[in-house]
Amino acid sequence: MDKFVIKGGRKLTGEVIISGAKNAAVAILPAVILSDEVCTIENVPSISDVNICIQILTEMGASVTKIDKDTYRIDPTTIRNCCVPYEYARKMRASYYFLGALLGKFKKARVSMPGGCPLGDRPIDQHLKAFSALGAEYTLTQGMIDLTADKLKGSQIFFDVVTVGATMNAMLAAVKAEGLTVIENAAKEPHIVDLANFLNSMGADIMGAGTDVIKIRGVEHLHGADYAVIPDQIEAGTFMTAVAATKGDVMIKNVIPKHLESITKKLEKIGVNIEQFDDSIRVWVDGPLVKANVKTAPHPGFPTDMQSQIATLLTLAEGTSIVTENIWEQRFRYVDELRRMGADITVNGKVALIEGTGKLMGAPVKACDLRAGAALIIAGLAASGVTEIEDIYHIERGYDCMEGKLRALGADIEKVSVPDKQSVKHEEVKKAI
Ligand code: EPU
Repeated sequence: MDKFVIKGGRKLTGEVIISGAKNAAVAILPAVILSDEVCTIENVPSISDVNICIQILTEMGASVTKIDKDTYRIDPTTIRNCCVPYEYARKMRASYYFLGALLGKFKKARVSMPGGCPLGDRPIDQHLKAFSALGAEYTLTQGMIDLTADKLKGSQIFFDVVTVGATMNAMLAAVKAEGLTVIENAAKEPHIVDLANFLNSMGADIMGAGTDVIKIRGVEHLHGADYAVIPDQIEAGTFMTAVAATKGDVMIKNVIPKHLESITKKLEKIGVNIEQFDDSIRVWVDGPLVKANVKTAPHPGFPTDMQSQIATLLTLAEGTSIVTENIWEQRFRYVDELRRMGADITVNGKVALIEGTGKLMGAPVKACDLRAGAALIIAGLAASGVTEIEDIYHIERGYDCMEGKLRALGADIEKVSVPDKQSVKHEEVKKAI
């Protein structure tokens, strides 16, 4: 078990390079299964969710070569096994993309029910609705989802809620289906467009990704492709917020400023200066931070995956802010930890009332999910004294070398190994004997 130890109070300054997008990479890697040839995927972030995707592909029989830190060459033609067992799926929500990709390629899939961050009820009814509409049958037994189809036929799919995962899965399953599929009320996140661009680069015929109607005309074969994953919008937003919280001045490189618009607008409202360039942005603070109200919404709204980070910043701003979480019912679990650091936050259902106190104090805290962990890092960087963050495996699921990047910006952050409680107990028993 590792923890982060942060001595707060240092301004972040310098330059940081953003890695590839987690939520695009975890869909694009399974999408390689659909290809009849070798694919090379670049700008893949070094995070544990990606490692799990690679392990699953290897276990299935794909031949995977890591060419450099962020590039993989994957030959899917040797895949023989269409099963994702519990030991992998429990660690990662995005394991559900193997359902769509395997169904699209082999007309069958067997995937354990997915795990991931504990954000409340995370149904997959819309994924199953899409697979059924395309002609697949499913059974759910003993935690496994089994999909089979004699053939997949293009269809009309209307989602009852805007869902990123089901939109991507419907695309994966439909690219090789016979005829036209129309997805309505589709999600519009940048990673939806990235997956569509990757599939199109392999010969798929997808139009409208990035709007709420996506049209997919099925093709028989998909060929190999070389493709680079887009930069991570949420990693960029997390660094923007960390710079603001420490009143620093940083050039954030390898970003698509258009993807950051909702975050940029909100930060500017709070008093953060932002200058945009083609593929980088400069973020700095030279005045007071002020209150703001934030409501999370599907893209192009303010992303739920930035909610905990911006709420942390608002604890440092003047005045009372209101943050409303509209996507996940349990995304305020980090608030108890922030209170331990001196934050004044009251949560009532999906609304958090934040009284800006202007300061935070270091404390021992625990990351309860990925973005909660990011929020605690921001809090630790801005706080006086020492913050120790436990359960950082959540953070490592989605941030590529967070502590290294922060250290290069002048932060005092160390990753420290702590013996887990089980082995300490074991040692104590041995000594007692
Ligand atoms: N929903 C349903 N039925 C479904 C699917 C979703 O009711 O079949 C509901 C959910 O309960 C939720 C809403 O629809 O209230 C949106 O869920 P969505 O399907 O969009 O979420 P997801 O695909 O499971 C992805 C990201 C999350 C991010 C959400 C929202 C991945 C692997 N995960 O999850 O990322 O919060 O979209 O943008 O892409 C994170 O990176 O920290 C993270 C949790």
